[in-house]
Amino acid sequence: MMRQTYQPPSTAEYEEPVLEAHCRRVASAAIELSKRLGWDVEQQRALREAAMDHHHFPIPAQSRLLTRLVGEMWGYSPLDDTPNSDAFNQAGALELCCLFVQRWEFAPYEFTTWSDIVTELRALAADGFFDSTHVEALAVVPSVRLEDIRSIVSKLPVFPAIALKAIKIAQNPMASVAMIEDTVGADPVLAGEVIRAANSPLYSPALKIQSIRQAALFMGLPDCCRLLAAAALRPMFQSPLVRPLWNHSMEVARLAEALARDSAKAAPDEAFLCGLIHDVGRLALWKLPARLTQQYTTLLQNGCEPMFAETILAGFDHTVAGREVAKRWALPDALAHAVEFHHQPEQSDEILPSILYLAEHCSGSAEDLPSAARFQIALDRIGISRHKINSLPAFAAHGQW
Ligand SMILES: [Fe+2]
Ligand SMILES: [Fe+2]
Repeated sequence: MMRQTYQPPSTAEYEEPVLEAHCRRVASAAIELSKRLGWDVEQQRALREAAMDHHHFPIPAQSRLLTRLVGEMWGYSPLDDTPNSDAFNQAGALELCCLFVQRWEFAPYEFTTWSDIVTELRALAADGFFDSTHVEALAVVPSVRLEDIRSIVSKLPVFPAIALKAIKIAQNPMASVAMIEDTVGADPVLAGEVIRAANSPLYSPALKIQSIRQAALFMGLPDCCRLLAAAALRPMFQSPLVRPLWNHSMEVARLAEALARDSAKAAPDEAFLCGLIHDVGRLALWKLPARLTQQYTTLLQNGCEPMFAETILAGFDHTVAGREVAKRWALPDALAHAVEFHHQPEQSDEILPSILYLAEHCSGSAEDLPSAARFQIALDRIGISRHKINSLPAFAAHGQW
C-alpha cells in the first residue's frame, strides 16, 4: 500500500476526491436505506447513480434539483416533481442520506455519535424537513448491536498471557536469553513460529536459525521478544478474511515501535504490542455472521472507509468493539485505553493513542477520514515533527511473515 505523506493538497486537488468520497458514502447509505424502505433493485441502482452525481450541481443537494436528478436517473417521463410524487419522495431520501453523511463527516470535530445524529434528524423530521418514515428507516439501518459484539467477544480465545510476558522481558534491562527460552517453554508450536519468523526475508539470516537461543542471539533479545508476542497473537488472525488485518497489525506495530523510540515518551515494546492489537475490534466484526460480513465487505468495496462502513453496519465502529475485546481480555489499562482511543487521540491525555493514530496514518490504511486537527494534536503530544513522520521507514513490503 502506498505511504501517505502529509502534503496539504491545493484547493482544486482537494475538492474533487473529497466530493467523490462524500458521494460514495451517500450512495452506500442510500442503498442501505432503500433496502429498509423495501425499494426494489432498480430503484436502488437509480438512487445510487443519483447519489454519485448529487453534488455535480451549482447548488448542491437542493431539493428541487435532487428531485429532477432522481427523476432523470429513474427515467420518469414525464417527470412529476410535485410533492408526494415518487421522484419527490425518493429525492427526499437522498437528501436525508446526504445530511446524515455530512453530520458523520463532522463527527471528528463535533464528537457526535450515531444516536446524536439520529436524534437531530428526528427533530428535523418533526419540523417537516424530512419524511419521518425515512428517518425511522435510517435509524434501524445498523443491524449489529453491541450485545452481538459482546457475544462474539465472549467466544474469542483468551488473550495469550505469553505476549505480555514477552514484552515485560523485552523491557527488562537484566533479561537473559534463558528467560525467553523458559517463557517459550515446552510449546514447540510457538517456538516454531518464532524460528520461522526469524528465518523470514524480514531478517534474512546468513545461516538457518534452528532454536530460540539462536534467534535471540541473532536478532537481539528485544526483537526476539517482540516476535514471540506476535507469534502468540497470530493464530487469532488465521482465517483468509482477517489475514490482511494481521499484516496491517504487524505494520502498525513496527511503526508504533519506531514512533515510540523517536519520541522517547513511550516504551517501544509496549507500543509494538499495542500496534499488534490496535484493531482487535475489526477482528470481532469479521466474526459476525456471513450475511453481515458480506454487507461489511460490500460497503468497503463501494469505497467506504472502514469507520464509516462500521457505522452503517453497527452504529458504532471498531474502537467500540475493541473496547469490548480489551475488557474480555482484561488487558492492562494502558493497552485497553490505546485500543479504544486510537482513532480519537484528542480524547486522551495518554501517549499511546497518539502513537497509534500516527502509525495508522503512516500505514496508509485510510480507516477513517483524514483530520489535520487530530494529526497535529497527535504530533504535538508525542513531540515529533511532520518531517520525521514522512521519513519513517516503510514496513509494508517486508513486514509480513
Ligand atoms: Fe488499523
Ligand atoms: Fe483502527
